[in-house]
Amino acid sequence: MSKSTAAQVTGVAEDLAARIQDGSLRPGTALPTHRQLAATHGIAISSATKVYAKLKSIGLVVGETGRGTFVRDRPPQREWHGDDEARLHRSAVDLSFNHPTLPGQAELLRNMLRELAASQHLSLKPVSALTDGPDLDALDALCRRERIRAIYTMPTLHNPLGWVLSARQRQGLVDIARRHDCLLIEDASYAFLADQAPPALAALAPERTVYVSSLSKSLSSGLRCGFVLAPQDRAGRFKAAIRASYWSLPGVITAMASRWIADGTVARQEALLRQDARERQAIARDVLAGMDVTANPNSMFLWLVLPEDLRMDRVAMALAERGIAVSKAQAYATTRHVPHALRLGLSSPPLVQLRAVLEQLRHTIEQFPI
Ligand SMILES: Cc1ncc(COP(=O)(O)O)c(C=O)c1O
Repeated sequence: MSKSTAAQVTGVAEDLAARIQDGSLRPGTALPTHRQLAATHGIAISSATKVYAKLKSIGLVVGETGRGTFVRDRPPQREWHGDDEARLHRSAVDLSFNHPTLPGQAELLRNMLRELAASQHLSLKPVSALTDGPDLDALDALCRRERIRAIYTMPTLHNPLGWVLSARQRQGLVDIARRHDCLLIEDASYAFLADQAPPALAALAPERTVYVSSLSKSLSSGLRCGFVLAPQDRAGRFKAAIRASYWSLPGVITAMASRWIADGTVARQEALLRQDARERQAIARDVLAGMDVTANPNSMFLWLVLPEDLRMDRVAMALAERGIAVSKAQAYATTRHVPHALRLGLSSPPLVQLRAVLEQLRHTIEQFPI
């Protein structure tokens, strides 16, 4: 396909997908014949056939021989994300998640978290990021303007930007929290990947830091085993909240996790993962040299800002067509202003395949629109 033909096919397919998803084309609706679709959009009949093939492959339409193409009875209730399509191909390479998800899960979780936040009268305020961490001046200004009760932060190996805050930045954060009497929530889920990090916020300000981590990234997300280190005078409230919302982990999981922490299994596993992540980042640095990449040399993911004239949805879809699933920036954006960027998780393809996958990704982006 020439570049413009592929772009036309994608454009028409996206329009139809959006109308099916928002309900304006209802289940069972007979869609135009290939010839009519081609005439309406000024595309070749073969392109119209490709449009329907695309919609069929992601389960939005069905074709009945001799009768035509119809909107599927129960289309998946969500937007058409580039990564969905790739998941339908068995050969798809998933650079978006560390483990598979089912259609609709992300929306379900997002909506529930919003509801929970609203029920607790929590409102979230974003703080802009500089290249190496949060903008502490902006945070201080926000705390002066409004009563901020807690600051959520990932000082060691931020997801998705990979930063590790310096000792000075950490002290700056602690000073702001003390000045404005805020709790610090330190998410250390990926901290084990950093080789050397300055002391945790929990060590600098134990009186106001809630340190949260889990074994999801280092051992297995299936364990569902996490832990919270809370200031002494608030520990009771955390225990009560955990009991009210979760009760407790099954004993066998607690026993396994405790044993693996105590006998050094977790530490050994973490060292292997650091090594693996380093190798993967080195391949990514090499293949993506010259592109706008932000990453920690030890992290499992990277943040790729696309050239200004490219739209991330289109790029994600083109990648999905080639069997590469990526995460778009929306999932990480805290405001309506979403950067045209992709987050690439490097951990799921076998190490020997990673270079070829990233080369294909680069090629696809550079050829855009195909
Ligand atoms: C920023 C961040 N915090 C925490 C977690 C840990 O999640 P859990 O321990 O619930 O699996 C993740 C996992 O994706 C994460 O990306």
